[in-house]
Amino acid sequence: MLDGMKSRWASSIALALLTAYVSCLECNVAAFEAALETLELEGFSSSSVVYASTIPPGGSSFDPSPEYPINATYLPELCAVKFNVKSSETTSYNLAILLPGRERWNGRLMTTGNGGFGGGINYPDMGEYTHYGFVSVSTDTGHLSDIGDSSWALNNPESIVDWSYRALHGSVALAKQIVPAYYSNNKTAASLVKFSYYTGCATGGRQGLRSLQLYPNDFDGVLVGDAAWQTTNLQSWSTWMPLQNYPPNASYHIPESLFNSVTARITSLCDSQDGIIDSIIQDSAGCSIDYAFLLCSCPTRKQTACLTKPQLATLRKMLSPYTINDEIVFPGLPLGSDPSLLASESNPIGYGYFQNFLYNDTSYNFTLYTDDDYIAAAAGDPGHATAKDFDITSFKESGGKILMYHGYADPLIPAGSSIQYVTSTLSTMGIDESQLSSFLRLFLIPGMGHCVSNAPTQPGAPWYIAAASQIAGIAGRLTGVNNITHSVPGYMDARHDSVMALVKWVEEGVPPDELVATKFVNDTAPVVESQRTVCPWPKVARYTGGGLEAAHNWVCD
Ligand SMILES: *[C@@H]1O[C@H](CO)[C@@H](O)[C@H](O)[C@H]1NC(C)=O
Ligand SMILES: *[C@@H]1O[C@H](CO)[C@@H](O)[C@H](O)[C@H]1NC(C)=O
Ligand SMILES: *[C@@H]1O[C@H](CO)[C@@H](O)[C@H](O)[C@H]1NC(C)=O
Ligand SMILES: *[C@@H]1O[C@H](CO)[C@@H](O)[C@H](O)[C@H]1NC(C)=O
Ligand SMILES: *[C@@H]1O[C@H](CO)[C@@H](O)[C@H](O)[C@H]1NC(C)=O
Repeated sequence: MLDGMKSRWASSIALALLTAYVSCLECNVAAFEAALETLELEGFSSSSVVYASTIPPGGSSFDPSPEYPINATYLPELCAVKFNVKSSETTSYNLAILLPGRERWNGRLMTTGNGGFGGGINYPDMGEYTHYGFVSVSTDTGHLSDIGDSSWALNNPESIVDWSYRALHGSVALAKQIVPAYYSNNKTAASLVKFSYYTGCATGGRQGLRSLQLYPNDFDGVLVGDAAWQTTNLQSWSTWMPLQNYPPNASYHIPESLFNSVTARITSLCDSQDGIIDSIIQDSAGCSIDYAFLLCSCPTRKQTACLTKPQLATLRKMLSPYTINDEIVFPGLPLGSDPSLLASESNPIGYGYFQNFLYNDTSYNFTLYTDDDYIAAAAGDPGHATAKDFDITSFKESGGKILMYHGYADPLIPAGSSIQYVTSTLSTMGIDESQLSSFLRLFLIPGMGHCVSNAPTQPGAPWYIAAASQIAGIAGRLTGVNNITHSVPGYMDARHDSVMALVKWVEEGVPPDELVATKFVNDTAPVVESQRTVCPWPKVARYTGGGLEAAHNWVCD
């Protein structure tokens, strides 16, 4: 770790010498334009400043996008600067940096990620992280669209590369050069970027993992949720899923409402197997159910939440891995995850990939999907988006840490996909679990859905760990409602706040042996309903007696 840190400091110091003659920058376009030129920023000769403006204390961001249609509110005093960077003959991307006042800056960068196929600068997350004192950074990944819209990728391989990794890397590189210039003050070391972090969920998780594989020096620590890291496989599975339930008049079709009630029934079958009946499945992988319980055994009696034999076969396909010739393409949904979101109608996150990334053919739809489409996707992997370069020795040796988490009831990306990432890393690097835990830990959060919130069938599940995009979930969509701006209100420490846990791991060498997830009453901070210890995989939190709602009554083993 020390060696890695030394080389990072060395390059930071070299940069400081380069920038030492620039006194701190004013927050205006001319000053940043001049900095771009004066610094002769490597690789950014054709970049430009889109705006630079001061946001007053309590102010808002003002640049919403299809991906992030809300503004960050209740911000601390900031300089908001946006750059446009040319990435190829035909493409460019935008990035924004939010710079808190010099006294407020904690010396660290926090870069945030995106979601789905979306394009937009993630001001809501950026705003949250400035409250900790971070300089925050985000890119629109080279296009503007909402999360389900991949039409920008059609016939556009350069934009796919921007989305895959290029825009994020370039944004971090530019930020690492411009931030010291902004803060430099009479040649002191106070303006150096001491540590660089990343948080993101879903596509944001993929971006974080891909980045440390390709550019192991961009970040010292990454917080990666519900990672969509297996682009080729995830997009194939997301296309395959609705096809298993198609057409709606087939005998094997399961309507959406029946999925919901069957999931509730499975949840109650699994719930007691952890010893506690609380509508939370602590360990989906440890649950076994007799699927025959789900069959409509008595057609004359009115049974809710029961399936015919052909319907049961459909359900079992969705709760089992999707395989081709016994090879796993993608893990199935864990028991307690509701398949209805993916299985009820065709999903643009699936077929859109084949239309726009792979085939340049907008007439493609999910009904045409065959195993050959997966094979073509795996062979092509447009933009090399898939984060499958598991040997991350360089990142590890420079002291980098990866804190992963996954909602155990995530209905869009099965938690098994994060477990696959961990096991593939183990086997590729030829290391054991204890060696892995020195730089990578995965926390499965029981009952949590996709990135935010709990599954509807597991209503009490504590899920909040102050990770990417979660703050909006406890502050009523708009950061700052009820004066809630960041972290875990009432518990701003490394046990409850995953960002602080990552910082402590990177900077003090203290790994998170457990985290505490929080459920707020009505999912609105600050009144806490319950908290629960969550554990690094493969450990599971076990109840030790006392109040179910108190985290200290759950231990990792
Ligand atoms: C965000 O800010 C912009 C610019 O001030 C404004 O036009 C827009 O209405 C705001 N959006 C929301 C959702 O408040
Ligand atoms: C899609 O279009 C791009 C740009 O025209 C081209 O480079 C790529 O090869 C095309 N892909 C296929 C499968 O046709
Ligand atoms: C389902 O509907 C289609 C189109 O209306 C029809 O052709 C087909 O025979 C129906 N299948 C069944 C099993 O009823
Ligand atoms: C899918 O595409 C096929 C071939 O173009 C077409 O026949 C079919 O109607 C389409 N199905 C849906 C559900 O769009
Ligand atoms: C939770 O929501 C209910 C129903 O809207 C409301 O009566 C109650 O006051 C809320 N509790 C808190 C702590 O916000």
